[in-house]
Amino acid sequence: MILKSKRPLFHLTPKENWMNDPNGFSYFKGEYHLFYQYYPYNPYWGDMHWGHAKSKDLMSWEHLPIALRPDMEFDQDGCFSGSAVEDDGKLHIFYTAIRYSKSSISQSGNKIPADEKSLISTQAYAFTEDGIHFKKKKEPIIACPKEVGDEAYFRDPKVWKKDQYWYMVVGSKSLDKEQGNILVYKSSNLVDWQYLSSITKGDIGRMWECPDLFELEGKDIFLFSPIDGGEDEQKNIACYYTGSFNYEKGDFKFEDFDMLDYGFEYYAPQSMLDSKNRRILVGWLVMEEPLDANENWTGMMTLPRVLSLRNGRLQFDVVDEIKSYRRESLQKKDVVVNKQYELNFQHENTFEMNLEVEIKDNFELQLFSDEKKGLKLSYNSKNRQVVINREDVMNDSKAMVFGKERKSPQLLVNNNLKLRIFADKSVVEVFINDGQYVMSAIVNPREEQKKIIVKGNSPLKNIEIWRLEKIF
Ligand code: FRU
Repeated sequence: MILKSKRPLFHLTPKENWMNDPNGFSYFKGEYHLFYQYYPYNPYWGDMHWGHAKSKDLMSWEHLPIALRPDMEFDQDGCFSGSAVEDDGKLHIFYTAIRYSKSSISQSGNKIPADEKSLISTQAYAFTEDGIHFKKKKEPIIACPKEVGDEAYFRDPKVWKKDQYWYMVVGSKSLDKEQGNILVYKSSNLVDWQYLSSITKGDIGRMWECPDLFELEGKDIFLFSPIDGGEDEQKNIACYYTGSFNYEKGDFKFEDFDMLDYGFEYYAPQSMLDSKNRRILVGWLVMEEPLDANENWTGMMTLPRVLSLRNGRLQFDVVDEIKSYRRESLQKKDVVVNKQYELNFQHENTFEMNLEVEIKDNFELQLFSDEKKGLKLSYNSKNRQVVINREDVMNDSKAMVFGKERKSPQLLVNNNLKLRIFADKSVVEVFINDGQYVMSAIVNPREEQKKIIVKGNSPLKNIEIWRLEKIF
């Protein structure tokens, strides 16, 4: 049997080998650029490089040569995460330069730090004029301010502009406590940076990785990925606070907290503002290793999500560009479900589906199903939570390490549930009630798991489904 690849068509994956965090997400000379943490020699984490892809529509990505390699004395063990901004015809890159004070060798034979305290971190700079060749500054631009920070926990610079100044937030941890924080910097020329403040809330995680701070519809949004911020198998989570940032003092008034995704592997997201004034967020979906022995890649990015505010909370929507990849479709209204209903539609596990359900008592949707077993999305009118269970689509893959089941927060809906689902070979993203919450999951379906089945007694008010296609 020829095994078809489980590589998604619309989710950016590395051409081969290892990918983690999105980096330098930006718009430069008419194209979107997305860099990422990359290990080019095997599909496991090792000395970090910056992989690079570009796109005109955020959907079809072209792989470009590696942008940054650990080739300087100060970044000899890795070019960790960071960001990029366009200014004066150049794309300016900020990244964390890493050296190990003590190293060891991982099971896959890669050099890794002996422990998390063995990182020596500084913030470094590079730029490009053509979007392909990158020139590094010969020495780091920011050393860790030892009075407030620990150089083992000082990484992931995110830069943005406000009025005539540039600002940078760097992920960090309190010197004296197991508590995450961020350090804020200010600059007028992108090279000389002045330390402004440190911000913490003290209640979640012991280090804050990959911070991001931006304005959205009159509020300031602070995104971060706290290590050990989670309560179950997934220790590292990605979340946000709304609030207001004081640009003079550099302090943040925290308001409401929420998660960015209620599924399994979402981590280290990064945002950018595009020329259409959309705040677009891309996150990493963590995989520990390739899905199976036939695949030579590890890790992927989510679909780009446009952010807006609804009732003071973030709301998420996939960029409209995906609509131009819609092919055959099927639409049905007012479908009565009597125990089981199978949607007859060819889609090869890459589709978009909109579903509106009138909840009676029970509703279960099985995707990637072979009739009996699939990815289960269920909802009942008592708990009012969407539950996603992937137990039957993991098929012994060790790539997924964050458990089998997740639940959304309680929904306020009155027996009406709306789901917008993007399935893409080995990943699904579920947008609940117009993007109030999103749940993402990596899956590993077998060849024959590709049916869509509805169970229970809840009528389907509306179903719309499109096969999505990309021609290479
Ligand atoms: C988050 C992270 C970052 C770091 C990078 C290293 O996943 O740990 O803090 O820069 O990955 O690959």
